[in-house]
Amino acid sequence: MNTSGTGGAAPVVGVPDVRIAGMTKCFGDVVAVDALDLEVARGSFYSFLGPSGCGKTTTLRMIAGFEQPTSGEIFLAGEPVAGVPPYRRNVNTVFQHYALFPHMDVARNVGYGLRQKHNSKQEETRRVGEALELVRLNGYERRRTWELSGGQQQRVALARALVNHPTVLLLDEPLGALDLKLRKEMQLELKALQREVGITFIYVTHDQEEALTMSDVIVVMRHGRLQQLGGPAELYERPVNRFVADFIGISNPIEGRLLWHDPATGSGRVESERGLRLEGLVTDRNARPSAGDAVVVAVRPERIRVELLAGAPVPAAGWTRVEGRVSQGTYLGEQTEFRIATGLAGEVIARRQNASGGGASGVGPGDEVAVSWEDSANLILVA
Ligand SMILES: Nc1ncnc2c1ncn2[C@@H]1O[C@H](COP(=O)(O)OP(=O)(O)O)[C@@H](O)[C@H]1O
Ligand SMILES: [Mg+2]
Repeated sequence: MNTSGTGGAAPVVGVPDVRIAGMTKCFGDVVAVDALDLEVARGSFYSFLGPSGCGKTTTLRMIAGFEQPTSGEIFLAGEPVAGVPPYRRNVNTVFQHYALFPHMDVARNVGYGLRQKHNSKQEETRRVGEALELVRLNGYERRRTWELSGGQQQRVALARALVNHPTVLLLDEPLGALDLKLRKEMQLELKALQREVGITFIYVTHDQEEALTMSDVIVVMRHGRLQQLGGPAELYERPVNRFVADFIGISNPIEGRLLWHDPATGSGRVESERGLRLEGLVTDRNARPSAGDAVVVAVRPERIRVELLAGAPVPAAGWTRVEGRVSQGTYLGEQTEFRIATGLAGEVIARRQNASGGGASGVGPGDEVAVSWEDSANLILVA
């Protein structure tokens, strides 16, 4: 990450929209946010992802100005904002519970912020029209908010935030109250909207799939601490620790000890507790593990092949193979998920893409199978 705090020199690239430096927030004994450092580049879709209570909302509330950091600093467009009240920050927030004004129609709800800032009636009408157009609710100006569906109400809340032309839009689990199908639609719409308006979005969610779908950059948090920051593919394919690997997807953890590691390339060799030898990559480039350290090898389920043991080919060099028995096969539409009890690797979860026209393809519960994966699928996690 590029932190531009060296010697007061002007940053080479544009000033980040949001910069957080050593930010900590305590509520009594609870450390809600712990020494957070990050920069949010202009125009990006950023997500904070982590389980409930990890400090996502608190971080957002400090950026918005509803909460003051216990220590550390926040910069918006390069300016420190300590003591600047929320309404003087060029930031707007959309909450899960959008709190529209029930006694106002849609247009008056959306224009609320503009009236507060004493814009002319003409200006208000024009900008409300623009904002409603963006969320595809033009024509709904005179509707009562309680006549609208949940998804439409959330669009009104979005328009109400966008109408102020904020530099940064903060969204705190805004789709949490919607049903799954609508949520999926709104995810794609929000992403498209963000591209269209070019405003920086900072989005909070505990839903990994949601974060993967929408974000340019994801910040994974746990107990107030940043675990990993990266693009969706990077987090999934190169999680730096066991928490990130488990939180984003299925990881098939195999516990063992590091036998050998080359810091230059990241390659390593692990012996599992049950004596399986695994070659792979230490994903955390900053880690300096030593031989003998306890590690976990993670293998993503789509990297794992499952074949009936009778007739399975001899494993090629560069592959790991274990034997087991299928305990469960679950048809998931596009994929089938197999749970396999193996002696050497414990329970293994594999997912196979279903070919068009048929689901099963021969393997089912009770079958003796060969389970195999390439060395390149082995992610060696040090912590
Ligand atoms: N106003 C508050 N007073 C006391 N504790 C709080 C307050 N707000 C948040 N917390 C605590 O801070 C931690 C982080 O909370 P929060 O930021 O809401 O997490 P998240 O949004 O990730 O679920 C939790 O342990 C929560 O109980
Ligand atoms: Mg929250």
